[in-house]
Amino acid sequence: MQIIKEKAALTGVISTLKSKGFHIGMVPTMGALHEGHLSLVRQAAAICDVVVVSVFINPTQFDKATDLDNYPRTLGSDTSKLEELNLNLIVFTPTAAELYNDNITSEHFQFDGLEYEMEGKYRVGHFDGVGTVVKKLFELVQPDKAFFGEKDYQQLLIIKKLSQLSHHPVEVIGCPISRENNGLARSSRNERLSPEIRLEASFIHETLLKAKDKFGTESVNQITQWLENEFKGHPYFKLEYFEIADSEGLKPVTKKVGGKNYRAFIAVYSEDIRLIDNIALNY
Ligand code: PAF
Repeated sequence: MQIIKEKAALTGVISTLKSKGFHIGMVPTMGALHEGHLSLVRQAAAICDVVVVSVFINPTQFDKATDLDNYPRTLGSDTSKLEELNLNLIVFTPTAAELYNDNITSEHFQFDGLEYEMEGKYRVGHFDGVGTVVKKLFELVQPDKAFFGEKDYQQLLIIKKLSQLSHHPVEVIGCPISRENNGLARSSRNERLSPEIRLEASFIHETLLKAKDKFGTESVNQITQWLENEFKGHPYFKLEYFEIADSEGLKPVTKKVGGKNYRAFIAVYSEDIRLIDNIALNY
């Protein structure tokens, strides 16, 4: 495993690999690696000759300074976890000044309206930040395939769109949500929950599973009202949004149409910690 901090060193290594015909996979992360990330790296290594894992907390995708400040920074244990996988990896860990050429700002993107739904409404500028950093990473690494978790389903669709818009499209592969034993979707932010709340957080996935059960027989309105009631007055979790949307355009749905795939999306706060999850409802 090689650890690289500078862009010039990375592009040097990449051009050697490309000249040898190596198939390059990429897993972009913001560190605080957990089993979900490691499973993305394993899936990438299973079908690529070498995998570049970036560990970079991207300042431009945070809409709140406190969220950026509180984001876990665990580079030492991240690199140990990756080393233990014993795979052909390159870990890219630039500073913000290095990656952004001292100009830490976002480019503005249009992703066919995907950027205005859900996370886009509640975290203004978030997807411009994600698009900016992923574009920079793809340009440097030129991966053949890139792997993203379906926990950030909206991000996954946006990155697919970003890749289609680029001159060198990357095959963007979505991987199933990795869950803790109690069903809580794995996230670096889970580390900040107290052990009791982390256990109680099974409630989020359980509620989504019940919504999925109801989807066959109840209307979108009924399910939404039921779910909002479940969260009303909940001692630990405050609902930010719950939305049922079509799985491609992410447009909120009020009436189901036959032949379409739907997903339910949720964002919840526990004190200042924001958790998101989603579930396929009819496929
Ligand atoms: O999903 C994440 O961790 C980040 O949004 C990503 C894709 C690494 C970009 O910073």
